[in-house]
Amino acid sequence: MPGPVLRLDVEHHANLLAWGPGRVLRAAPTVAQTLADLRYALAADRPALLAVTGASNVTGEVLPLEEITALAHAAGARVVVDAAQLAPHRHVDIAAAGIDYLALSGHKLYAPYGAGVLVGRRDWLDVAAPYLAGGGAVHAVTAPDEGGATEVSWRPPHTATRPAPRTSSAPPRSPRRAAC
Ligand SMILES: Cc1ncc(COP(=O)(O)O)c(C=O)c1O
Repeated sequence: MPGPVLRLDVEHHANLLAWGPGRVLRAAPTVAQTLADLRYALAADRPALLAVTGASNVTGEVLPLEEITALAHAAGARVVVDAAQLAPHRHVDIAAAGIDYLALSGHKLYAPYGAGVLVGRRDWLDVAAPYLAGGGAVHAVTAPDEGGATEVSWRPPHTATRPAPRTSSAPPRSPRRAAC
């Protein structure tokens, strides 16, 4: 799904720096005006993806995701929602809101640092190369002929990152009952 990525300027840096080309749209003083500007930018730029925050860490605003996904889909763009601030505070119905991808940080939900979540349609995630090509992600590597490129085929499902394979011989611990 290559193509430009449209964003708003109320995004966290994580949602500004992660992407390649594409416009950063200035959010208007009212949500209604921001939606109107979004509609115009989607029609003018025809981005592949709209990357938008569910709740802005800059303004605290909670954006109307259903309306935003409807606008984006009408213009042929998919939507990824940065739910890092939204998920700890609100129930998010991904299907009802028409969200294509949703990302959140574990540590804002009291998970250990370094954990996070990317939700999306499996077939769409599977066609992307892994963000970090380690662990058990590689299916096969073809050595190049002279001057050729190395070809890698990935083992589905391709998640954004892959954990290292389990190498410890320790058996999984069974849940313990608390002593009364
Ligand atoms: C809206 C939003 N998106 C993304 C991030 C980045 O999350 P992380 O701390 O996991 O890099 C933050 C962090 O404050 C945030 O508020």
